Amino acid sequence: MRLEKFIATSGIASRRAAKRNILAGLVTVNGEPVFVPGHPINVETDTIEFEGKRVEPLTERIYLMLNKPAGYLTTRSDERGRPIVMNLVAGLPESIYPVGRLDLETEGLLLFTNDGDFAYRLLHPSHEIEKTYLVWVAGVPDDNAVQQLCQGVTIPSGKTAPAKVKRLKVSRDGASTQFEMVIHEGKKRQVRLMFKAVGHSVIRLRRVGIGNLRLGNLPQGQYRRLTPREITALMEL
Ligand code: URA
Repeated sequence: MRLEKFIATSGIASRRAAKRNILAGLVTVNGEPVFVPGHPINVETDTIEFEGKRVEPLTERIYLMLNKPAGYLTTRSDERGRPIVMNLVAGLPESIYPVGRLDLETEGLLLFTNDGDFAYRLLHPSHEIEKTYLVWVAGVPDDNAVQQLCQGVTIPSGKTAPAKVKRLKVSRDGASTQFEMVIHEGKKRQVRLMFKAVGHSVIRLRRVGIGNLRLGNLPQGQYRRLTPREITALMEL
């Protein structure tokens, strides 16, 4: 970021006043006056002072939902240059990061924020926040399989807590079945491994809800800001 913009957006001066103050030598970067308004600074590592007082960045809190397409890694960077979810929220402040993760092939609702407290609350296992998935599996799991899923099954990382599982529809040719599944844990590849434990592979997986928040008809690959009401509802979970 440029020094002038930093000063102007930190709330202590207008853009014009920021420039004037910099030219007058009233602004220091790491203890040295810098007379160049366009001087590049790193807000994370540089100490900026105005008339001897530290200037703190005014960080806007950002809360977004993305409809993640399959084929994107949930990570902030990838050394191998593979598609990552950050590519889909380009243009937003770099301070945002995904809250939790979806597998490479999983689609749907992924939250982003730069509010560490919000992310912590949502991810903490003790909060048991419900996540709702639409799941397409191969074949037609019988009632016994569904009951097992509801009670909890054993996957490599341990026994899963009871889940809510609803059979929605069987494809006409009987090759696949669609379910809605609600879980509150976040074990690695949990939904896929749960169905595997009862003998069915997941063909497609889409997260459609976190708590009361719903993905709705947000197009794939698009994001939108959460409304204040949605943010409050998630905070209160
Ligand atoms: N369960 C999975 O198996 N994958 C996900 O991405 C999320 C939940």
